[in-house]
Amino acid sequence: MKKIIALLLSALMVMSLFAGCGKKDDGGKASDGDGEKGTIGVCIYKFDDAFMTTYRNSLEEILKGKGYKVSVVDGNNDQAKQNEQINTFISQGVQALIINPVMTSAADQIISTVKDAGIPTVLINREPTAEQMAAYDKLVYVGCDAAQSGTFQGELILDTANKGDINGDGKVSYIMIQGDPENIDAQLRTEYSVKALKDAGVEVEQLNLTRGDWDRNRGQEIAANDLAQFGDQIEVIFCNNDDMAIGALQAIQAAGRKVNEDIYLVGVDALDAALNEVKNGNMTGTVLNDAVGQATEAVNQMEKLLSGTTYSEGNQSVYVPYVKVTPDNVGDFMS
Ligand code: BGC
Repeated sequence: MKKIIALLLSALMVMSLFAGCGKKDDGGKASDGDGEKGTIGVCIYKFDDAFMTTYRNSLEEILKGKGYKVSVVDGNNDQAKQNEQINTFISQGVQALIINPVMTSAADQIISTVKDAGIPTVLINREPTAEQMAAYDKLVYVGCDAAQSGTFQGELILDTANKGDINGDGKVSYIMIQGDPENIDAQLRTEYSVKALKDAGVEVEQLNLTRGDWDRNRGQEIAANDLAQFGDQIEVIFCNNDDMAIGALQAIQAAGRKVNEDIYLVGVDALDAALNEVKNGNMTGTVLNDAVGQATEAVNQMEKLLSGTTYSEGNQSVYVPYVKVTPDNVGDFMS
């Protein structure tokens, strides 16, 4: 008898939990009480970004697969435009927002807007500080630990026959092609890739550091200029992402250099194009920035918010692990 009462009680508790969620859930008009799912607004910093294209396609597919209506908008790399898009979504009564901010520095503004509107929000790809996020308890960040990807890039170089010191002069001379320096991914990859070498006791020499804003053409231009200026001195080209690395590879090939023979080249993301180049020996390695894993986790966290979960300072960042990609395991990542 006791067991039956206990069972009934727990059933009642579960039911009341769901009833509670229902009330919290209807953050937007789009959510009706009979289980139909509402519209999710997705703001992407710009559509013309190779990695974010895979990411947004995956987000859309997962959300639609779960029965949500989805509206995905292009911020065109313009924060003012994205602010308007967020306001429009709010006035349309979306059920939740998934936002890839244009500028990390706009986080306070974005957080206060969604907080005032009471919209559960998942920030992705550009991580604000813990203090900034603490302003709103229905907000969570989903991304990766950017320092880890930098460390992995450094380790890819340490794993080469001569730890990156191709010319045997006792130091690794490199150029760094940086993403948008406002982005913490760019800052930490730049710092930690080199730190991994130093921590392993390897002497390093930075020949140049240039911002390439995550862009393939910029990667090509920067590498071409640096190869013309520094020639054989360059032993390693670190790129904060694969798109810039693919651009750099074009310049390396045009300069008659051969990756893994007289120069090393690493990126981050594991874009299909980069996986092919790792397989063919034209990139030393890359780091999987798991777009599908992050999209899955972003939707998962969004649903947690919709069912009433709240967050407090210090637990508002959810990280999906990076994975080192080398010629040995590249096959595991190719479709
Ligand atoms: C990716 C880049 C992308 C950037 C956009 C980074 O995490 O590695 O490829 O351009 O995010 O913010």
